[in-house]
Amino acid sequence: MPVITTIEDLRRIHARRAPRMFYDYCESGSWTEQTFRDNISDFAQIRLRQRVAVDMAGRSTAARMIGQDVAMPVALAPVGLTGMQSADGEIKAARAAEKFGVPFTLSTMSICSIEDVAAHTTKPFWFQLYVMRDEDFVARILQRAKDARCSALVLTLDLQILGQRHKDLKNGLSAPPKPTLRTMANLATKWRWGLEMLGTKRRFFGNIVGHARGVSDASSLTDWTAEQFDHSLDWDKVRKLKEQWGGKLILKGILDAEDARRAVDVGADAIVVSNHGGRQLDGALSSIRALPGIVRAVGDQVEVHFDGGIRSGQDVLKALALGARGTYIGRAFVYGLGAMGEAGVTRALEVIHKELDTTMALCGRRSVAALDRDILLVPSDFEGNWA
Ligand SMILES: Cc1cc2nc3c(=O)[nH]c(=O)nc-3n(C[C@H](O)[C@H](O)[C@H](O)COP(=O)(O)O)c2cc1C
Repeated sequence: MPVITTIEDLRRIHARRAPRMFYDYCESGSWTEQTFRDNISDFAQIRLRQRVAVDMAGRSTAARMIGQDVAMPVALAPVGLTGMQSADGEIKAARAAEKFGVPFTLSTMSICSIEDVAAHTTKPFWFQLYVMRDEDFVARILQRAKDARCSALVLTLDLQILGQRHKDLKNGLSAPPKPTLRTMANLATKWRWGLEMLGTKRRFFGNIVGHARGVSDASSLTDWTAEQFDHSLDWDKVRKLKEQWGGKLILKGILDAEDARRAVDVGADAIVVSNHGGRQLDGALSSIRALPGIVRAVGDQVEVHFDGGIRSGQDVLKALALGARGTYIGRAFVYGLGAMGEAGVTRALEVIHKELDTTMALCGRRSVAALDRDILLVPSDFEGNWA
């Protein structure tokens, strides 16, 4: 058993154990990957203010996200094809999150279905929706999420069309993988993954196959997205979806203060400052640079959440100190899953929790609610002087 001390340790094992096409699917951004890289490197520009002789006994990372108690304000982000990184991946990740006491968000583009995840967990999870052209499909999937007791709808707004990731096209990404020579040669070196996959029936898009009509090739994410996603999604439709859902609504993919205000107008319970992990508009600002302006614009009217580039508990702390009330990890948990299944997701959460707790203490704070801008050293030009 390797000694895992960082998220980077998990990433390296994930790269070795998962088939190339799925690791690449996770570890890439769109086009030049500038935003993908900036999401991570911009965190490093922020430094921390060390404080001493502050009583640090009785610390807690516990918090609330949209009214739910969480062991730390770090949810698992919706990630498509999670069940291809490790067999039954969504179920494994949801169970790890449940045991840890943090929210799990199931993607529309998951391999395990909503019903399947609900049957293998005991607490409500969150469901992420991509809005499709087929309104009946949308109505049915919302009803399925309600029937499965999902306690929040995460509506993703930044993917009406798909940002191009070159590697996915070159690798012929599909679920399950198509048996080309190149793919088979790579799979032959991934025996552990292959054995586990042979042991499960969950190898297709579980929320889609058998539920959506007129899908010509549900195995190809790229083709399916191009065919089915609703290009005409606008704020009126968001408002209607909110009514249709009737429960807690989190709007994901906000990177601009004006859009944040629109999200407040439609009555969102929370927004997620996000650029989809650098997978959509390459050249957009990193999430952490965009966060302060959005908090200034709407932070007193709506719960502001954050994702993009979190690879440590220190990153979580920086986002919280800049005003986020909750954060999400995408790749950080997927590395854990691809490396070691459920135990790997648990390890990822443990690593982040320990880093958050220790850093909080060394900054002289005992609770996440007490984290504020005062514990950070932020360069004066951090937000940038963009015209
Ligand atoms: C492999 C992968 C698949 C993703 N699939 C989805 C998805 O199905 N729905 C969604 O709203 N966001 C999706 N995202 C974006 C994540 O929810 C999240 O915004 C992003 O991963 C955060 O950045 P991070 O990976 O640096 O933590 C995906 C991200 C990755 C890496």
